[in-house]
Amino acid sequence: MFDVEKIRNDFPMIRNNPDLIYFDSAATSFKPQPVIDEVIRFYETRTCNIHRGDYDISFAVSKEYDDTRETVRRFLNAQRKEEIVFSNGATSSLNIVAINFAKKFLKKGDVILTSLIEHASDILPWFVAAKEVGCEIRYTPLDEKGMIDLIGYEECFKDNRVKVVALPYVSNVLGYIYPLKELTRIAHKYNAIISVDGAQGVPHLKVDVKDLDVDFLSFSSHKMLGPGGVGILYGKYELLDQLDPVFYGGGSNARFYNDGSIILKETPEKFEAGTPCIEGVLGLNRAVEYLEKVGMDNVASYGKELTEYFISKLEKLDNVEIYNSASEAGIVTFNLKGIFSQDASGYFNKQGIAVRSGNHCAKLLFNIIGVTETIRASFYIYNTKEEIDRFVDVIKDTTIEKCVDSIL
Ligand SMILES: Cc1ncc(COP(=O)(O)O)c(C=O)c1O
Repeated sequence: MFDVEKIRNDFPMIRNNPDLIYFDSAATSFKPQPVIDEVIRFYETRTCNIHRGDYDISFAVSKEYDDTRETVRRFLNAQRKEEIVFSNGATSSLNIVAINFAKKFLKKGDVILTSLIEHASDILPWFVAAKEVGCEIRYTPLDEKGMIDLIGYEECFKDNRVKVVALPYVSNVLGYIYPLKELTRIAHKYNAIISVDGAQGVPHLKVDVKDLDVDFLSFSSHKMLGPGGVGILYGKYELLDQLDPVFYGGGSNARFYNDGSIILKETPEKFEAGTPCIEGVLGLNRAVEYLEKVGMDNVASYGKELTEYFISKLEKLDNVEIYNSASEAGIVTFNLKGIFSQDASGYFNKQGIAVRSGNHCAKLLFNIIGVTETIRASFYIYNTKEEIDRFVDVIKDTTIEKCVDSIL
């Protein structure tokens, strides 16, 4: 049974900030006590490096680090744990795929198919890769709401030049869940691979990479209750294994020689040069366990419930314009009519409500929604309808004069 009050008790940030309403979990989530305890346990009782020390705590921590790979494999229903690479964020994971896939598999004239919804971390690496190799960037058609038009999407493949698709599972501004299974099926029909930005999807939805059949999936620990500094790259083993690392150094090589030749370790270790964020990976293990205990079906349905509840309340207000009324995954994007988004969020801040305003790193999305700056409220498992009610009361009463007064 999903019990939000019980969940809230697990989050010290909520206890320690009784006057704060935090609606910015799409930027980063709060951490539950077991995750915090795990990180502290590492610092207080077992600080050491992994895969290098010939002593007990290093053996123990190395094993726990490797066990996290198995936990993440189970969470994603991946075929094998060697398909899980730890990086330092979704951005790193997306770069590993884009830069190396392009170098290895793309040639001049090939097409990279993406969209105008993209977060900078998903699209910029492909811009750079496209420039280096001489590829074309193509944008899949979207409808007026920002949903992918599947017929238009398939049309994009008809000249047989699309070699890779880069799309998000969930838009970080619109909160729409894109039909990954179908998008992947179509990409594969035309022999293209798909790299998915899962930064907003994985924290909110039950993911089964075998069922979705995606080739690469990138996401961050810090948006799914885990510590910062850790990213995850899932890749189908045969593909992942063919990529070269972005970084070279200690821990990722088996041998190197005077003549400059390097023998790398096997996948996934070959991608993890240098000392990783060990405490972050250990904390991620606890975060995944926590989410599994809550149940990803509950996480998804509660996120949808809060999202729909907030939208239904906003729709009754005359002073609000909503840009994603079909959102499902904990993200609502809107503006107060006649008020600059940052002025409104500054005023909300004074009322104890934390939201984000601006372009949310999706700087091409204005082509679809017609505005560059919006307010984004994003929810997670510890938010409540009472918090939303409080926010709606504040929104109702927000005027430009109050916003200006709060700045002065
Ligand atoms: C959709 C999307 N992709 C990628 C990222 C980048 O994640 P990170 O900053 O954790 O690397 C974000 C972060 O906000 C995001 O929302």
